[in-house]
Amino acid sequence: MTRKEGIGSYFHDEDPKKMRSLAAPLRLNYNLYYTGRHALLSILNSIAKTTKINTIWFPNYYCQHTLAWIKKSCSGIKTYEINPFEFSNDTIDIGSFADNKDVVLVNNYWGLSSMSIKNKPQNVVVIEDHSHGWLSEACLNSHADYCFVSLRKSLPIPLGGVAWQPHLETSSKQELVIEDQTMYGIWNDMLRGMQLKTQYIKGTSPNKDYNYLPVFYKVEEALNSYFDFAKMLNEHKTIIESFINANTLSYKEEHLGYLYENIKDNQYFKIVKKNNKTAFGLLLLFKEEEIFNSLKQYLVSQDIYPSTLWPDNQVAFQWRYFLNIHVDFRYNMDDMKHIMLTIQNWLEEET
Ligand SMILES: Cc1ncc(COP(=O)(O)O)c(C=O)c1O
Repeated sequence: MTRKEGIGSYFHDEDPKKMRSLAAPLRLNYNLYYTGRHALLSILNSIAKTTKINTIWFPNYYCQHTLAWIKKSCSGIKTYEINPFEFSNDTIDIGSFADNKDVVLVNNYWGLSSMSIKNKPQNVVVIEDHSHGWLSEACLNSHADYCFVSLRKSLPIPLGGVAWQPHLETSSKQELVIEDQTMYGIWNDMLRGMQLKTQYIKGTSPNKDYNYLPVFYKVEEALNSYFDFAKMLNEHKTIIESFINANTLSYKEEHLGYLYENIKDNQYFKIVKKNNKTAFGLLLLFKEEEIFNSLKQYLVSQDIYPSTLWPDNQVAFQWRYFLNIHVDFRYNMDDMKHIMLTIQNWLEEET
């Protein structure tokens, strides 16, 4: 059984009432933004108000669009080394590269990072990015100075980002005063793409073509070149907040439990996972580029569209070709079975 829209790619428009809720409402004192990158920039701006930042350290494996975007507004950015696929000892020795008055971004890789740090110079500010670990323990119980999340990675909303300061009862509100038609246009485009996908799924589309992908790509391009802060419209805030207590992690946990039972590490790939943590998706790591491409193509031929996070990052590790298969709330156990059988068939053909 396969879905006509396949497994993966962008979210379609969903009804929040159909999603499971968290047992207790979220208790993060967050501020809302249109994007994760604006949430990060707002944090950096607020640090810069009181401190003359020397260097902003990013991990050398990170979302290339976000980093390029931030570089347009901030100077003094450097990178530190990290292995984004290895979690047995992932403590970051901040003192080995950062000095006083530096800012260090720590990324919660695929929701699996321990987020532990050591040797932090006293005046170093730590910002955590939980975009791939939304609702993880590390995200909800962070001890960092600041945290942020791009919510559209986990929630079916057009755009959305949050930033908060875990040790503060209330986050100081940034004044975001621009009524920004461009950003509202980007939101509307994204919403239109999501609605087109819903129509396609329901078969109510006036035009039978697969016409939503170009809309999503246009939004990504627009986001990469748009920098102003927009005042959040109430109607957009209402949409984001109607999803914010959705328990998106519980679906992934169930789906991954099944896939981990049925798919094991082998000579071609390793499954990137960690006990007692729920990964962002089914994460497969390869040594050989050819094998990686072969499975990727096979998955696509079976209507499974994995994402590669992030294709432009160059790392020197032997195991470095990485793909993510979506296992979120959109899917059920039939879909997981389809993923499992597809991978098993590919393995049989390879061996
Ligand atoms: C880890 C990570 N952080 C932040 C962002 C930025 O989020 P947004 O696209 O909402 O600005 C992205 C990607 O877009 C990301 O992958």
